[in-house]
Amino acid sequence: MAAITIKDMSVSYNKGKSYVLDKLNLTVQDGEFCVFLGPSGCGKSTAMHCVAGLLEPVDGTIHFGEELMTEVSGGKKKNFVPPQERNIAMVFQEYALYPNMTVRKNMSFALETKKAPKEEINKRVDTMAKMLSIDHLLDRRPAELSGGQRQRVALGRALVRDPQVFLLDEPLGNLDAKLRDQVRYELKKIQTQLGITTIYVTHDQTEAMTMADHIVLMKDGHIMQEGTPNELYNHPNCEFVAGFLGTPQINLFTVRVTEVNGALVLNADSFSLPVPVELVACLKPYAGKDVHLGIRPSDLLITEDGLIPAAVESIEPLGDAHLVYVRIGEQVVVVKHAEEEAPAAKSLKLSPNPAKLHLFDPSTEKRINP
Ligand SMILES: Nc1ncnc2c1ncn2[C@@H]1O[C@H](COP(=O)(O)OP(=O)(O)O)[C@@H](O)[C@H]1O
Ligand SMILES: [Mg+2]
Repeated sequence: MAAITIKDMSVSYNKGKSYVLDKLNLTVQDGEFCVFLGPSGCGKSTAMHCVAGLLEPVDGTIHFGEELMTEVSGGKKKNFVPPQERNIAMVFQEYALYPNMTVRKNMSFALETKKAPKEEINKRVDTMAKMLSIDHLLDRRPAELSGGQRQRVALGRALVRDPQVFLLDEPLGNLDAKLRDQVRYELKKIQTQLGITTIYVTHDQTEAMTMADHIVLMKDGHIMQEGTPNELYNHPNCEFVAGFLGTPQINLFTVRVTEVNGALVLNADSFSLPVPVELVACLKPYAGKDVHLGIRPSDLLITEDGLIPAAVESIEPLGDAHLVYVRIGEQVVVVKHAEEEAPAAKSLKLSPNPAKLHLFDPSTEKRINP
């Protein structure tokens, strides 16, 4: 196994007229489950293809551990290990199993071409099949399998080769929701057991939040923020990150920082909130100006003495909670009410959890509070 280090990597598909990735720097630790997350077209697959050696950057280096895999400077290739020599395994959404081969043969094929001893091959296939709960399917052909089973065979086929780096590009995209949850859980379990350095590409924040040790959240070819799922969720460094993680999305308000009798308050058209002590210092410079206030749906509580008056528009039951859509002034926002009973009143009072306020500068969209 090995860490992956990417330094100053730039990628262009049009000979430098424009860059899909611009000086990307990133370290994926040895054994880590790293998720490249971001909207479609932000450059996730491009970055992964560079790690795989399927694509040459125009600049930058990639190391696996101490080993130099890619080195390109100003479009000139200095070092480049071809993909088949990188000891990587890849799984894509469009996994192509060999239709005429049994599951066992699909899984053992790559090892056989490498002339591994037969007993060793059988042992590895059996172990991996057990881990993936497909050991009862080894004699079937792909056409006799469900979508979820096929995807597990594809994962098994990649993993029996004992790669040093495991690369997955939206591998669960074709599965229905229930299967996706199940394969997601098993994939994470196996990755942890094997301790294999993994990069997983997805646009799905739930997959990222549930599986990642390390999320790399990208937009337009740039890393917006990286860290653990909790770090990104609890401390988004900008509005984009705050909005990308969490469902339903974070609510954003424009509020004016106002000084009243020596104390700071946040004023909106229909409510006014005192600034918590911890936030006074960082908001002082914004006195008299607007800031964006982000509050997650689960951090807006329905209370009797809440300072935000809200009119209920609609309610969605979730079983153990309710999503309450309310109108606050001109804006519709969502409250996650963690109770089995829906609120009965048509007009409510809301209190934000003062420890969970996210403040952003409207001009830069960057986080203001520590
Ligand atoms: N082979 C290619 N030729 C030209 N442009 C490409 C090619 N592959 C990807 N792109 C462009 O590069 C950008 C990033 O694409 P990609 O890495 O596939 O994004 P993601 O995987 O995040 O959806 C997109 O704007 C896409 O249109
Ligand atoms: Mg992609």
